[in-house]
Amino acid sequence: LTVQVNQPGAAVSKNMYGLFFEDINFAADGGLYPELVKNKSFETDARLLGWKALQGGANLDAYAVRNELPLSATNGHYLRLTTRAGAPGEAGLENEGFRGMGVKAGAEYTLSFYARRGAGNVKGVVASLVGSKGEALGQVAVSGFTDGWQKYTAVLRATGTQNKAHLKLVLNGAGTVDVDVVSLFPKDTWQGRPNGLRPDLVQLLKDMHPGFLRFPGGCIVEGRTLSERYQWKETIGDVAARQPLVNRWNMEFKHRATPDYYQSFGLGFFEYFQLAEDIGAEPLPILNVGMACQYNSGELAPMGSASAAKGPNAGSPTPPATGDPSLDVFIQDALDLVEFANGPASSPWGAKRAAMGHPTPFNLKMIGVGNEQWGPQYLERYEAFAQAVKAKYPALVLVSSAGPSPDGDLFDQSTKRLGELRADYVDEHYYAKPEWFRAHADRYDKYGRGGPKIFAGEYAAQNVSTGSPQNKNTWDCAISEAAFMTGLERNADVVGMASYAPLFANVDAWQWTPDLIWFDNLTSYGSPSYYVQQLYARNKGSRVLPLTLPAGAKNGTDNLFASAVADDVAGDVVLKLVNYSSSPRPLKINLAGAKKIGKTGRAQVLANADLQTQNSLQEPQKLAPQASTFAVQGATLSYTLAPNSFTVLRVPGR
Ligand code: AHR
Repeated sequence: LTVQVNQPGAAVSKNMYGLFFEDINFAADGGLYPELVKNKSFETDARLLGWKALQGGANLDAYAVRNELPLSATNGHYLRLTTRAGAPGEAGLENEGFRGMGVKAGAEYTLSFYARRGAGNVKGVVASLVGSKGEALGQVAVSGFTDGWQKYTAVLRATGTQNKAHLKLVLNGAGTVDVDVVSLFPKDTWQGRPNGLRPDLVQLLKDMHPGFLRFPGGCIVEGRTLSERYQWKETIGDVAARQPLVNRWNMEFKHRATPDYYQSFGLGFFEYFQLAEDIGAEPLPILNVGMACQYNSGELAPMGSASAAKGPNAGSPTPPATGDPSLDVFIQDALDLVEFANGPASSPWGAKRAAMGHPTPFNLKMIGVGNEQWGPQYLERYEAFAQAVKAKYPALVLVSSAGPSPDGDLFDQSTKRLGELRADYVDEHYYAKPEWFRAHADRYDKYGRGGPKIFAGEYAAQNVSTGSPQNKNTWDCAISEAAFMTGLERNADVVGMASYAPLFANVDAWQWTPDLIWFDNLTSYGSPSYYVQQLYARNKGSRVLPLTLPAGAKNGTDNLFASAVADDVAGDVVLKLVNYSSSPRPLKINLAGAKKIGKTGRAQVLANADLQTQNSLQEPQKLAPQASTFAVQGATLSYTLAPNSFTVLRVPGR
């Protein structure tokens, strides 16, 4: 195998390997966003989702969601409880959390809520953490209720560790009381922030050295209908005032009338920008382009002022959604988002960012226009969108969208048109079997140049089939992704960004497999695919180096896959090598034209002969990179790849 060290090629994008975040699989509420109380503001509907009356309500005369004289216009519902006179036992409520609540012995949780006393004499509540078998796990009393709305705060210290605890609120006194915005929030958050994120999960993200953070999805950007689309303006400002929205990934289709998966938006656009900054990733928000999910209602926003030039919904068989805002509103949302992220604190939207605690700009450089959308309806909306955004922000990088088929035409008419419309990137998605990834490692070797660059914005090998709940994060999937990624890296002149998807899954509440990082309410682990992504991101280098495989090996057809880069900062030649074979593979590696070759190379190896190997909560690092060193003598080195392995070699040299 020969690497032309003295003939560096295209620069590797500094954002090359990043993260795709979507609130799917309880990734936000019940995951990265650690609020423990489900439906804390009683705003979802009248069902009291997540809540249950103690003793089946036997000690309450009434408990119901009400809306007279609410806390505020944006927080229009609350819960009214009236105790039953003379009833024995506890009167009150419990909250189930997100598939339970994870609490740790000795850790502190901030309990807060608003209360208003009605008739009678309810003086306060006793709040307790209770384990799945009824164990007492900590308690705090709050008293002093008054006749008007007032906020109460207390610290609840857990006395035991459990991932299936729940919160019990027992009324002290008899009568009526109104409660709202009941929150139990861990004090242990990323950077100790009051509305901060779950630290172990942020750490896993940071450890990947991601080049960008794409948010908030995925299909949730689109919504099943336009009224259920993601609207970033609804996710900023006072956390208590953010209105929940049914999650597009609420999979109980037959129970659509009674969904149980909402987005609380406690993790909203401000928090996403802050997260990107914390982990050193470029923010990449994806915005709705006036189209609901084409697999669901396919609703279209009318073209608005762009329709004069183009004709309303030209080429569109789908009627526009009645009563929905026109495309102008979506375009304005994009312009306002740039001001929110980058505008001075004196600008209207910049002021909102500053009021949330970030007066300096977030330095947003790119936005995505639509998610996984295609066809004439998309192209005409993209055109109007891009014209308006580029007119005001010419330097902003625009990521356009494409349909999901992995076998779709390469560089087709649509891609050509997107190039004419000055799209900087086109976002390709591919979910397919592991063999597809190995067979298509040369996908971009053949890709047309001169159009938009590629953002491989969603991909994952799926060992059973796309959409099957039986898919697992096996080593077979991960090693096949590693093989495919040699092709992404080799084609750095056309592939500028890539992210695995989806990112997160709660082991008790997922809708999609496989996923990069799994967690329960207390712990988390990275899948083998996580370590593949991490090895690429940490070893992305600066420039591609031409590489010739040994005679007989062609584009991985004999199960050897390879790419090479120069790391100009470290002064290393970096090789990525995949041996998809149950036999070891000895290699002679010729570093042609290399100077200043060091004496010691470093290897990081992910290997397991068993392709079905998986990590788990019990064995989080069953498959994780193993580091070693090896002697280098001159420009030709010998290295034997382990059976079924992905190896990163670093050799000092230029
Ligand atoms: O990653 C899961 C889903 O796959 C995304 O929401 C969507 O863009 C794609 O279809």
